[in-house]
Amino acid sequence: MGRLWHFILALSCFSVVLSSDFGGTSRNPHSLHMNVDAKLGTAVRGSGRHSVQKRSADDQGDTCKGLQDYNSQLSNNTHTSKFNDLSGSVALAWIGDGTGVVLALTTFQMPIFMLRFGQSKLYRSQDFGKTFTDITDLINNTFISTEFGIAIGPENSGKVILTGDVSGSSESRIFLSNDFGRSFNSLDLPFNPRMQIMYNPENSNVLVAISVKNDLWISEDFAKTWKKIYSTVCVVKWGEDNTLFFSTTLNGSCYDRGQLVLMKSLDYGKNLKKIAEKIYSFGIGGRFLFASVMTGTGMMRMIHVSTDQGEEWNMAQLPPVGHEQFYSILAANDEMVFMHVDEPGDTGFGTIYVSDDRGMVYSKSLERHLYTATGGDNDFTNVTSLRGVFMTSILSEDSSVQTVVTFDQGGEWVPLKKPENSQCDSTAKDKNKCSLHIHASYSMSMKLNVPVLPLTEPNALGLIIAHGSVGDAISVLTPDIYVSDDGGYTWLRALKGPHHYAILDSGGLLVAVEHNPTVPISQIKFSTDEGQCWHEYTFTKEPIYFTGLASEPGAHSMNVSIWGYKDSLLNQYWVSVTIDFKELLTRDCSDNDYVQWLAHSDDISDPNDGCMLGYKEHFLRLKKDSVCWNGRDYVVTKQPTPCLCTLDDYLCDFGYYRQENSSECLEQLELKGHDLEFCIHGKKEHLQTNGYRKIPGDKCEGGVNPERKVIDMRKKCVSDLLEPQLQTGEEEKSNHSAFIIVVVIGVLLISCVAAVLFVKKYVCGGRFLVHRYSVLQHNAEANGIDGLDEPLDISGVGHPKTSFHEDSDEDLLE
Ligand SMILES: *[C@@H]1O[C@H](CO)[C@@H](O)[C@H](O)[C@H]1NC(C)=O
Ligand SMILES: *[C@@H]1O[C@H](CO)[C@@H](O)[C@H](O)[C@H]1NC(C)=O
Ligand SMILES: *[C@@H]1O[C@H](CO)[C@@H](O)[C@H](O)[C@H]1NC(C)=O
Ligand SMILES: *[C@@H]1O[C@H](CO)[C@@H](O)[C@H](O)[C@H]1NC(C)=O
Ligand SMILES: *[C@@H]1O[C@H](CO)[C@@H](O)[C@H](O)[C@H]1NC(C)=O
Ligand SMILES: *[C@@H]1O[C@H](CO)[C@@H](O)[C@H](O)[C@H]1NC(C)=O
Repeated sequence: MGRLWHFILALSCFSVVLSSDFGGTSRNPHSLHMNVDAKLGTAVRGSGRHSVQKRSADDQGDTCKGLQDYNSQLSNNTHTSKFNDLSGSVALAWIGDGTGVVLALTTFQMPIFMLRFGQSKLYRSQDFGKTFTDITDLINNTFISTEFGIAIGPENSGKVILTGDVSGSSESRIFLSNDFGRSFNSLDLPFNPRMQIMYNPENSNVLVAISVKNDLWISEDFAKTWKKIYSTVCVVKWGEDNTLFFSTTLNGSCYDRGQLVLMKSLDYGKNLKKIAEKIYSFGIGGRFLFASVMTGTGMMRMIHVSTDQGEEWNMAQLPPVGHEQFYSILAANDEMVFMHVDEPGDTGFGTIYVSDDRGMVYSKSLERHLYTATGGDNDFTNVTSLRGVFMTSILSEDSSVQTVVTFDQGGEWVPLKKPENSQCDSTAKDKNKCSLHIHASYSMSMKLNVPVLPLTEPNALGLIIAHGSVGDAISVLTPDIYVSDDGGYTWLRALKGPHHYAILDSGGLLVAVEHNPTVPISQIKFSTDEGQCWHEYTFTKEPIYFTGLASEPGAHSMNVSIWGYKDSLLNQYWVSVTIDFKELLTRDCSDNDYVQWLAHSDDISDPNDGCMLGYKEHFLRLKKDSVCWNGRDYVVTKQPTPCLCTLDDYLCDFGYYRQENSSECLEQLELKGHDLEFCIHGKKEHLQTNGYRKIPGDKCEGGVNPERKVIDMRKKCVSDLLEPQLQTGEEEKSNHSAFIIVVVIGVLLISCVAAVLFVKKYVCGGRFLVHRYSVLQHNAEANGIDGLDEPLDISGVGHPKTSFHEDSDEDLLE
């Protein structure tokens, strides 16, 4: 379903960290085998409502014994590369899937007076990072600024675009490859781009970009020829089926947001169609196109939604918001949307709503959802390793931040269970009763010692690795690493202190490296049993300052690279150490290595257990004590079986509501307030209902079928409160449009593998030279959320939008 978006942006998940933040920490010597209480881990699984079925053959479950004497195997498979340049940052990009081709762009940039001075080098590997060749001469030693990063084409097109530094010229030189970076051609663009050149996800030969003069340019032949299709363009996005959407300004200023016009083209700009006027911004999530529109009287605005690429719009039944508030798409797929609606006033929280299958009718899902002021941070995370699971944070009444999880796509949110092998910390009032709290974007924005976001992968079934703390609320103390193997029902404290981590071989192997920017490291930890037992391996005799872990996106790989730098008085250079774990695991997994596992269940024998959105799924999962490799071609094996329908498989349609503790949808006696808007703009057929709608994605069969008389809600819509011009219906709607805010958050789409790590004083003038390390990678499975657009930050001067898209993990169109 979800398209793979291969737009590559330089990510730096973590803003500049001053070394003083970490001063004085000393490293604990770790023993060779770090057994995180594997026995306790398995014993615990019998208790509690949701526990995993045992997946180890041996009940004692001491999986640590499975692996011994791995040092010589690993050292024969450890490859070190040195990059002999003094560079401030490294950006990595994988090209293609399973090709093993990695580009590394090192950049050194320093402002000298008013000029920018920079140097970049380009390296290429075709063996998953084991060896690199310097290919800087292929781009004629041109300085490639990291501003637009490395643009990698969609799917396996093998296309790469590098943009030369644009400062001081009206044109811009780009370098193009369509053979996975083996060769490059250079080309002068007829314009100076304001954004990274964007591929059409469905045809990698078609490129668009907006120039610094706000012209929209398109090329249909992979940059050979360019055509200007429109002036005064603010934002451009690709929709489904080669559709191009862009907003334009009449006034010449994209800051004049309420005045923007939304255009679309189905034929790459030959024919243009105006689909909405006076918009503020727009967003795409799954098959839904969103825009928010001023209500009749002009102070509030509302979301409008279209499921046919903007031909027909409908009012979304969401509360309207005022000037300082915002809407945000937290996650969306073709079936439904999670929408955040900001609370009035500067509260730092709002409410999450979940949509029906039309994107029109919304149910309240979670209140007090933490989301700092417009464009700020939130912790919303799609747990991609188990269907229906999402985590986020709430801001409680006492202003503490707490993690909550839903296992049924937003139906109910609960705190995370306390891991049995950890104690409640000082934030807990009752030492025996507390829960686990997960650090995500918000903690990172607060500069807590959290180097990476929580990590899940669709092919690493049920696995979640994250930083967390155990108490009544999230703690500012040093976090530890927690692992769940059942999609968040139960947790285990796996490692002490902050780490970088990666999932390899579809979850068969986890690796972690301690995060400590001030002390050089030489060890990597790994686990073959989903985080219960950890082994250590010393990968180098000369410790390096560690900056980040990098492995091929998609978690199919068994090669992982440890990036860092060496620092001596005279010399400073990047080092990458790549370890191939293939020989460690020695054999392919066979049928005997897998066991049946029922998701969302603690009792596999109960026929009603494990139902989620109308069906349950049996999976074949690797036994914990099986030391073998899933392999690159591993696919998750699942068997879905439908469940009988209950009223809980339905949501209440427009004009109906649920009483507390009841599943029945009751008719609302009067429709007032914002419902009016829906009455007017809602299509006639959308207002005829029997009160129930299947929850999007719910596949239940038989059971309860809430048939009742279809009522036409339009009859209940009172229209005499409206301004006369409003009553003409949809056609006129766009005329009353005014402000639109849609904040599209891409944080979910991006699995940051590595982060910025340290700041060093640069010799001359005491300036800070920022060593940034960023991994560029496929934004795996974007599910069609258009999450990576230029911020509407086009005023040019005075906006030195940091070259690393410092906050591009949050795409903000506010
Ligand atoms: C590692 O390589 C050395 C020399 O090539 C060889 O003698 C040794 O047997 C290898 N070790 C393993 C475990 O493969
Ligand atoms: C590099 O420069 C040479 C000579 O100036 C030119 O022939 C070649 O096409 C250039 N290569 C690229 C990729 O620009
Ligand atoms: C342009 O902007 C000015 C000031 O913001 C506003 O008064 C005017 O109506 C705008 N013109 C158009 C055509 O939107
Ligand atoms: C969450 O992630 C899964 C796996 O990638 C995806 O199938 C699903 O559509 C996502 N859900 C939403 C609401 O984005
Ligand atoms: C690891 O890298 C080697 C090339 O060095 C490659 O042949 C192998 O397929 C990679 N392993 C995986 C699982 O991707
Ligand atoms: C709903 O159920 C909860 C817990 O069972 C109870 O505390 C609450 O009073 C109930 N509310 C109503 C309106 O019955």
